[in-house]
Amino acid sequence: MDTVQKPTEAKGKLGILIPGLGAVATTLIAGVEAVKKGTAKPIGSVTQLSTIRIGKRTENRNPLIKDFVSLANLKDIVFGGWDVYSDNVFEAAMNAGVLERHQLQDLKAELEKIKPMPAVFDKNYVKNLDGENVKSNATRFDYAQAVMNDIKKFKADNNCDRIVIVWCASTEKYIEPTDIHQSLEQFEIALKNDDKRISPSMIYAYAALKMGIPFANGAPNLTCDIPALLELAQITQTPIAGKDFKTGQTLMKTIVAPGLHARALGVRGWFSTNILGNRDGKVLDDPDNFKTKEVSKLSVLDEIFKPEEHPELYGDLYHKVRINYYPPHGDNKESWDNVDIFGWMGYPMQIKINFLCRDSILAAPIVLDLALFMDLAKRAEMSGIQEWLSFYFKSPQTAEGLKPEHDIFKQLIKLQNTLRHMMGEDLITHLGLDYYQELVETL
Ligand SMILES: NC(=O)c1ccc[n+]([C@@H]2O[C@H](COP(=O)([O-])OP(=O)(O)OC[C@H]3O[C@@H](n4cnc5c(N)ncnc54)[C@H](O)[C@@H]3O)[C@@H](O)[C@H]2O)c1
Repeated sequence: MDTVQKPTEAKGKLGILIPGLGAVATTLIAGVEAVKKGTAKPIGSVTQLSTIRIGKRTENRNPLIKDFVSLANLKDIVFGGWDVYSDNVFEAAMNAGVLERHQLQDLKAELEKIKPMPAVFDKNYVKNLDGENVKSNATRFDYAQAVMNDIKKFKADNNCDRIVIVWCASTEKYIEPTDIHQSLEQFEIALKNDDKRISPSMIYAYAALKMGIPFANGAPNLTCDIPALLELAQITQTPIAGKDFKTGQTLMKTIVAPGLHARALGVRGWFSTNILGNRDGKVLDDPDNFKTKEVSKLSVLDEIFKPEEHPELYGDLYHKVRINYYPPHGDNKESWDNVDIFGWMGYPMQIKINFLCRDSILAAPIVLDLALFMDLAKRAEMSGIQEWLSFYFKSPQTAEGLKPEHDIFKQLIKLQNTLRHMMGEDLITHLGLDYYQELVETL
């Protein structure tokens, strides 16, 4: 295994910059402010609440992750971001309707201070939005410079020691990588030519990576998952991660499917449908934008079940995913899964999952963890794709030719072992035979 540098201490302020101050981002920011005030708990955040076992089970060393590795303290975090709408974070959170109004009123002073910087936006990538707070009349190259200037100014104004960026903006329409995405040289020429095949998210990612700022992508768009930006990340020694936060239905899928697979139960069909009524749902109502999401959601089961290795169990699996925009539900997404499974001698059974979830409530702690871990990775001099953060993504970015790991339990082991490795502790294989071996030897 590669040697990883022991991370330096998280000193000073960490700026978390977010393209897209919508439902997810404002829920995160309000939550962190509430935790700082002691009026809420960071439920769902592994960095804040989970422990990690160190050494043998008999040693009883189970520190909180945040005490085991040096992570930015919540009180040292400053938020900022960009959006195509000029609402401040208080107004945007009120509009998103995720958190209760009285709770937001208590945080009004902190939230209304955060005003979005003008966005890099191209309506061709998100047809269903029409905002006025956008950078205009320039080439893609100029936009990248403008984003870099925004970052520098934010860093100086807020006296930040370090910055990380997490994309929480709308899902862009589906595109395939082309020649201009294949190398940094071609990409930079295309930026200067204002080539429309460079999406806004790629411009933010380019600006971040150029400055050595870690960039994580919470939406399924390509963004930094192209050879050109991978090359830039290597040159500037910057961590990147993506794609698409793993919440809701896909979270359930990657919890249930590994269990079925582990017990060699067959699956004939998995039908998933969702209704949601937030702005994300509105954007995904457009077929081009939905296609990006669909590709991300569909990949999960194949990688867990590996039908090519188990044709008798999963060879005929029919997997269908639907998302329907349904305004009355707002951010409270409802998903239904019908899973047709079969057991001993092929006898059929069914599992029905009806998850009444809150999308942004599940996504907010992921953004926090990603920001803190990406900052940690940078301080540990880790660069390029951070596969150990696959735990948080529906469609984990991996090196070319490497299949992603979707099983959430394997992803967690990978994450924990990376932290142990970083801190020079023994990796845990869960073999456990040594406990019994010692017993035998002492008898
Ligand atoms: N909530 C979840 O569970 C979840 C899970 C996985 C992925 N995601 C993704 O996270 C993203 C955010 O979700 P949300 O529910 O907060 O959506 P949202 O629509 O409430 O917020 C997205 C915001 O991004 C802004 N935006 C769009 N294009 C932009 C650009 N180029 N620059 C800056 N801002 C831009 C929009 O104006 C909007 O305010 C979406 O892409 C969504 O698909 C969400």
